[in-house]
Amino acid sequence: MKKENGNRELKQQVGQAAARLVKNGMICGIGTGSTIAFFIEALGRRIREEGLNVNGVPTSYQSRLLCREYEVPIIAAEDCSELDLAVDGADEVDEDLNAIKGGGAAHTREKIIAAMARELVLIIDESKLVPRLGSTFPVPIEVIPAAVKYVTNIVIGLGGDPLLRMGVNKDGPVVTDNGQFIVDVRFSEEVDLRQIDRQLHCIPGVVETGLFLDLASQVLIGTGSGITVKTTQSGKKPILLKPDIEN
Ligand code: 5RP
Repeated sequence: MKKENGNRELKQQVGQAAARLVKNGMICGIGTGSTIAFFIEALGRRIREEGLNVNGVPTSYQSRLLCREYEVPIIAAEDCSELDLAVDGADEVDEDLNAIKGGGAAHTREKIIAAMARELVLIIDESKLVPRLGSTFPVPIEVIPAAVKYVTNIVIGLGGDPLLRMGVNKDGPVVTDNGQFIVDVRFSEEVDLRQIDRQLHCIPGVVETGLFLDLASQVLIGTGSGITVKTTQSGKKPILLKPDIEN
């Protein structure tokens, strides 16, 4: 569904720039996708050439294999409670640095590292910048297979147009690294995606959505004339706030 090889040079440019943000001693969450592949390669080079001491927390089999290939030491997410930094690609980013992710079906683990990290840096080429989330890309939802009909039916009731993602070079649906299905949902422009995200999280069988709202604090954008950096003060991160507990 996404164009893996689109804007290769721009993806490489931002991947390499993001690798320069990693500091000695950091534990760094590592996203998934073709842009992140360049980040991992560049990080491996820094480790080799500068003796940088870092550990990566990969979010997929893809990024795990690439870390091994480029000799980036890895630790498992389940052994960490907090990360210094997370770097990830995205499918769409709006001007407030909210994003849609999950084109590579890895958004559940990607959201976990985004939440665990003190800072989430997204790296994209300029084609991913949109005026409104959902204008070019559907919202991916990871769904437990037993709930797929139930969830798609409710999603239609919420005004969405759901489509079960099918495999390429594999018969049948895409099965994520977590063993679940992906339902890609198009919503009309009138829909408030923030509210939809809250509603989707209430449906039994929904594991996670690809809406990354108020998570990124910085976006590196590869353009034909260099890298543009956008930052936000509001990034980070309501989901980490401890709920008030009354007793
Ligand atoms: C994987 C993702 C990717 O980060 C997103 O699809 C961008 O990928 P690419 O860098 O290949 O364009 O969310 O689930």
